[in-house]
Amino acid sequence: MSHHYSMVAKHVNNIQAEDKIFAANREAVNAAAMYGKEQVINATVGAILDDEEKLAVMPTVMEVLRNIPDTEYAAYAPIAGTPDFLEAAVSAAFKDSRPEGFIKAVATPGGSGALRHTIWNYSDIGDTILTSDWFWGPYKTLAEENLRKLGVFSYFDKDKKFNLASFKEKSSELLARQDSLVILLNSPAHNPTGFALTGEEWLQLLEVLKHQAADGTKKITLLCDIAYIDYAGPSGRDFMKHLSNLPENLLIVVAYSVSKSLTMYGLRTGAAIGLSANKDVVQEFYDVCQASNRGTWSNGTRCGMKLLSTIMHDSEILLQVEAERKELEQLLVERAAVFTEEAKQIGLDTCPYKAGFFVTIPAIQPGDACDRLKKDNIFAVPLTRGIRFAICSVPAVKLSGVPQKIKNAIG
Ligand SMILES: Cc1ncc(COP(=O)(O)O)c(C=O)c1O
Repeated sequence: MSHHYSMVAKHVNNIQAEDKIFAANREAVNAAAMYGKEQVINATVGAILDDEEKLAVMPTVMEVLRNIPDTEYAAYAPIAGTPDFLEAAVSAAFKDSRPEGFIKAVATPGGSGALRHTIWNYSDIGDTILTSDWFWGPYKTLAEENLRKLGVFSYFDKDKKFNLASFKEKSSELLARQDSLVILLNSPAHNPTGFALTGEEWLQLLEVLKHQAADGTKKITLLCDIAYIDYAGPSGRDFMKHLSNLPENLLIVVAYSVSKSLTMYGLRTGAAIGLSANKDVVQEFYDVCQASNRGTWSNGTRCGMKLLSTIMHDSEILLQVEAERKELEQLLVERAAVFTEEAKQIGLDTCPYKAGFFVTIPAIQPGDACDRLKKDNIFAVPLTRGIRFAICSVPAVKLSGVPQKIKNAIG
């Protein structure tokens, strides 16, 4: 008889079975092999598949990548990232909505790296990091891996608007017992719901934070996770202008990533971008993030950096990339319309979707509902209080009838 013998150190708390999303995907892939692809709806994957259900890539991005010289693949990048990449990442993140203030970026392996460095450098060990109650699961893993906890506020009020009261209550509660607070806010095109704060809601949120920062005793860091911003329509960056002229103890970090923006998920390229009205705060941000790079994964993927800087420094290439991305965004818009219109017609409640890769349906027993959906060969991801349906990976023609089946499965 074997018993479970554990070798890991005492602080290791994240032993878990297979990632839920990858597990659900595996089942969908098996079902497709058994019954044929056309019989199966695989709404588990957080990547855009085209209408032939192949991973979508942008031809111009591929061409630029393939033309990168050998040495730009093989060489190390500077620990902080190549200077032309850092400039390109800031331009790509803010476009023409660049806030006033001092800005410095450090290259990270995707937005995940920016999340990690922010948690590590701007909260104390044991602190609770705050995010919305609907959140991307790895936020919790990232907090716990770094010996922090994750706490949540209610993202939506009863009218499906931003729940300012809950945000205020939870952030105040944490600030009463912590010297610092890191907040992870994913908007626009939020994963998993598709939600975005309006301009007015951003102003209200920032007012709360300014008020909490006012006596100067607390340090607050707001991480703006913009992983999906390039699929949120032309107003996606409107909130950025509100990030100017904040107090020095309210730091903004923008987590920028090419994973979705260039559909280059595996290239592991992104940046942590610090923004503050205080120059020293931003220099310090750069210094600690650079040191954290050295102390974790060392330097980043050089060809990924070269890819973004080449695109951003050539206006013709950039226009082409933006046109190709627009086509992908259009796929999402069409698919979301099919799904949400049918949901509305049949009275299936969804979280407030505005844009993005996923629609989420609240459910009391999401695991059971997802199991029932599997009998219809529909594969989605059970969350704690709902079902995440990845419209990004399902062609529009396969979507009609799906909301009804979800409604039946929820019971
Ligand atoms: C909400 C959110 N933030 C950040 C990321 C980071 O991804 P990456 O590290 O590939 O940039 C993802 C990826 O799925 C995400 O969904």
